[in-house]
Amino acid sequence: MSTVSVNILAIESSCDETSAAVIQNGKVLSNTIATQKVHERYGGVVPELASRAHMQNIVPVVDTALKDAGINKHDITAVAFTRSPGLIGSLLVGACFAKAYAQALDIPLIAVHHMQAHVLAHFIEDKPEFPFLCLTVSGGHTQIVLCRDYLDMEVLGQTIDDAAGEAFDKVAKMLGLPYPGGPLIDKYASEGDPLRFKFPMSEMKDYEFSFSGIKTAVLYFLQAQKKTDPAFVEKNINDICASVQYTIINMLMNKLRKAARDLDIKQVGIAGGVSANSGLRKAIKEEGDKNGWQVYIPRFEYCTDNAAMIGITGYYKYLTGAFADMTASPDARGSW
Ligand code: KG4
Ligand code: ZN
Repeated sequence: MSTVSVNILAIESSCDETSAAVIQNGKVLSNTIATQKVHERYGGVVPELASRAHMQNIVPVVDTALKDAGINKHDITAVAFTRSPGLIGSLLVGACFAKAYAQALDIPLIAVHHMQAHVLAHFIEDKPEFPFLCLTVSGGHTQIVLCRDYLDMEVLGQTIDDAAGEAFDKVAKMLGLPYPGGPLIDKYASEGDPLRFKFPMSEMKDYEFSFSGIKTAVLYFLQAQKKTDPAFVEKNINDICASVQYTIINMLMNKLRKAARDLDIKQVGIAGGVSANSGLRKAIKEEGDKNGWQVYIPRFEYCTDNAAMIGITGYYKYLTGAFADMTASPDARGSW
């Protein structure tokens, strides 16, 4: 007896990555990502430029995803797209494209929450057991999420101000590094001494985070040092990056450890762009060894923004019949 394949075409356009993927019965057939280089020189994502770049990229990116997957558009079962959160102009491009595609082919439309998708990126390959605890760290969010099931998630705590990725990017900017600075801090940190400089760790209640303090502390620290030595940054960049990274990772791990202990959960993972950080990947493995956790870390291409994670979420929503209608409009801050 032959089984019919469920082929999800997924579109991600929430920030500065235009991505399309094809997921067949929960397996990734293709995952095409066009990263927008245009923002580098501005030290951050420029929303209007992001929207325009999405408009230029979306057709070729979807074409490539279909070709790489070896799938004809008439074999697509449903179209999933990122509905929220994100930059409204960027979301609009993906949403309009997905709606038009679904309508033209007369197939269902599935609206996906970007942060839920970051968590479900774990189920592309590894498939953790439930309950699963996920620290999601991206450019816009820092959350500890309790997952009871694929689509049954609860945010236990999050940042009250900046996200961890934002802290990486802003410190990088102070050091004169281009956007996004997170990967560069990671690179310099690998050669530096994490204990050379001390930065304050925020003490927040429960599972909340705050990263605005470290950003300000680094700013004042650099201003003071540069007064006595204008070449301070160039001479010490490795140690500065290592020390900042060490402090951010400690703040993240302290809360993750607390949540895992309080809830007695041993299935623990990290997700989102900052989970590509080599120091954080090492730290969670070490913490896992100490506490008997089964640790989950997505492959690099599923950490930063990608449509495969939108596709896997779309697949689970498809299985439960959670479809959207043509009125599903993008929402910059929507909850799941
Ligand atoms: O999840 P993501 O791709 O986009 C959002 O949803 O925000 O995360 C992007 C963030 C940026 O802040 C970027 O600097 C950070 O992830 N990032 C890293 C690394 N790779 C990406 N931060 C630290 N170390 C890295 N290796
Ligand atoms: Zn993201």
